[in-house]
Amino acid sequence: MLASGNPHKLAELGAALPEWELELLPRGDYPPEAGATYEENARGKARFGRLHADPGTWVIGEDSGIEAAALGGRPGVASARWADDGVARLQHELAGVGDRRARYVCVMVAIDPAGRELVVTGTLEGAISTGPPRGDEGFGYDPVFVPDGESLTVAELGNAWKLEHSHRARAAAALASAVRERGG
Ligand code: IMP
Repeated sequence: MLASGNPHKLAELGAALPEWELELLPRGDYPPEAGATYEENARGKARFGRLHADPGTWVIGEDSGIEAAALGGRPGVASARWADDGVARLQHELAGVGDRRARYVCVMVAIDPAGRELVVTGTLEGAISTGPPRGDEGFGYDPVFVPDGESLTVAELGNAWKLEHSHRARAAAALASAVRERGG
């Protein structure tokens, strides 16, 4: 069970966790993302999901954001709510700024049926493009985010690329190995 209503997130996790039969928990009453860290928010979603999911299943809570180096890591944990149009604000705040480095971060808290919690992280390093947003796949900041080693934005690289390389795919791969190490 993925404690989220976002189908993009489900797709990215599902590819990295092929043995898991993941489903979304779309609800209107998630607790607000009021934590100071990704981990607190991910744990809040996971524990909320635990209350509503089948007791025999795992529940995954996920929180993510984008961190611009020149903005001291902002918007970070506030990425989903710092502006109506986050892309426009990011471009505005970085207008004329030479240091375009940014990274995506994803933290997942997974709770097993016994209530034990695992925490994993995935990151994707890159830069905020100059010029207009490019590409129409992905979501959020993808049309202005160019991963290191690429010249296209994530929205141009597309959903198939994200399934393999995104911060979320990397966190999900880390979760799969943590679960394997623990013996299931
Ligand atoms: P949350 O994890 O649902 O709180 O949302 C995090 C916010 O960070 C999203 O609304 C997006 O603005 C941004 N974000 C997180 N992951 C991605 C991604 O893979 N692509 C683009 N934007 C992302």
